[in-house]
Amino acid sequence: MEETRRTQVAIIGAGPSGLLLGQLLHKHGIDHVILESRSADYVLGRVRAGVLEQPTIAALREAGVGDRAEREGLRMNGFDLRWDEESCHIDFGRIGKHATVYGQTRVTRDLMDARRACGGITLYEAGDVRPHDIESQRPYVTYRHEGRECRLDCDFIAGCDGFHGVSRQSIPKNVLREYALTFPFGWLALLADVPPVSEEVAWINHAEGFLMCSLRSKTRSRYYVQVPSTEDIRQWDADRFWALYRSRLPRDLAEKLVTGPALEMSIAPLRSYVCTTMRHGRLFLVGDAAHIVPPTGAKGLNLAVGDAKELADGLLRHYRDRDTADLDGYCDRALARIWKAVRFSWWMTNLTHKMTDNPFARQMQLAEFEYTRGSEAAQIAIAENFCGLD
Ligand code: APR
Repeated sequence: MEETRRTQVAIIGAGPSGLLLGQLLHKHGIDHVILESRSADYVLGRVRAGVLEQPTIAALREAGVGDRAEREGLRMNGFDLRWDEESCHIDFGRIGKHATVYGQTRVTRDLMDARRACGGITLYEAGDVRPHDIESQRPYVTYRHEGRECRLDCDFIAGCDGFHGVSRQSIPKNVLREYALTFPFGWLALLADVPPVSEEVAWINHAEGFLMCSLRSKTRSRYYVQVPSTEDIRQWDADRFWALYRSRLPRDLAEKLVTGPALEMSIAPLRSYVCTTMRHGRLFLVGDAAHIVPPTGAKGLNLAVGDAKELADGLLRHYRDRDTADLDGYCDRALARIWKAVRFSWWMTNLTHKMTDNPFARQMQLAEFEYTRGSEAAQIAIAENFCGLD
C-alpha cells in the first residue's frame, strides 16, 4: 500500500447522506474521511429531489447548513391532488406543518461549502473503493487516489454510496434481506427556466398516465410525466416532451403553460426497495444505499437525512459516553421510519399513476379521490404522511 491513514469513521459516498453525516460528525468532533468515486462537479450536476420536511431542515440546521434552505426555500403549505378536471387541495395548515421546496442540488452545494469551510477531507475521484473486514473490530477501506493505492483504517464504515454502491454489495448474501417492487413505468423529467404553471405543486392522475407540475423557484419549473419503463431518453427532446405534457394537463393549467428549452431531461425508473440489513458488523448503510422509494411521495432525500442524523447520534453516544445502545438500535429505529415512508410513496404511486389497462383499477382510483375530497380525515392523513411522521 502506498499510503495508509487512520480515521474514526470512513464514509463512502459524497451525496447528501455522506456529506450530511460528515458535517454532523464534524460538529460532534468525530474524525472522518469521505471517499467519493465521482468528481465534485459531477455530484453537483445531478438534478434530483426538491421537497424538504421540517425535521430535514432541523437536521441541516444542526449540521450548520439549514439557514439558506430556510431563507431561500419556498414554503409549501399544501398541494393539489387532481384527476382530469377535478381537484382536491391538501392543506398542511390543518396539521400545523409545512414543507420547503429547495432542490437537492442546492442542499448538496450548501453541504459542500460548509465542508470546505471546516476543512473536512473529501477525496473525490477515488477509484475501486472497497470495504474490508467489516465483521471485525478493525475494518478498513482500500481505494485508488491520484494514482496511488491507499488504505483507510477506521472504527466504522458508513455506506452512503447510493443504490448502486459497493457497501451493500459487501454484505454477505446469506445475511442480506431485501424487499423490492419495480413499477413497469418511470418518470420522464424536464427542468426549464419557465414560470411554474401553478404555485402549488400538483399531482395529476390522467387516464393516460400521471403527470406532476413541480417547481424549484418562481422562475424554474420541474415537470414530470409517466412513461413506460422501456422508454429511451435519446428518443425525447423538449418539443416532444411539451406536446405530451400539454396533452395531459387539465385545461386551466394547459392555458398557463409556458414552454422553453430544457436545462435537463432524464428518465428515472420507479421502484420500492428496502434492504433491512442496514448494519452488518461495523458497516452501516445510509440513504439510497439501503432503500429507494418512488419519487411520488418526495421521501428519498428526507429518509436519507433521517438515517444520517440517527447514525451520527449513535456514533456520538458511542464515542462520548461509551454507550453502543443507539448504534445497536440503528436498524430498528431507522426501519420503523423507513417502512412508513415506503408505504406512503407506494400508496401515492398507486393512487396517481396508470397502473394497468384494467378499467376497474381506474374506477378504484376515482372512488378514492372522491372519498379523499369529501373526507377531512383522509386529507389529514395525506398531509401527515407528506410532511413527515413524528
Ligand atoms: N465508491 C465511492 N463513492 C460511490 C461509490 C463507490 N463505489 N458508488 C457510488 N458512490 C457515490 C455516488 O457517486 C454518489 O455521489 O455515492 C454517492 C451516493 O449519493 P446518492 O445516490 O445521492 O445517495 P444518498 O446520498 O443516499 O442521497 C439520498 O435520496 O432518493 C434520493 O434524490 C435522493 O439522491 C437522493 C438520495
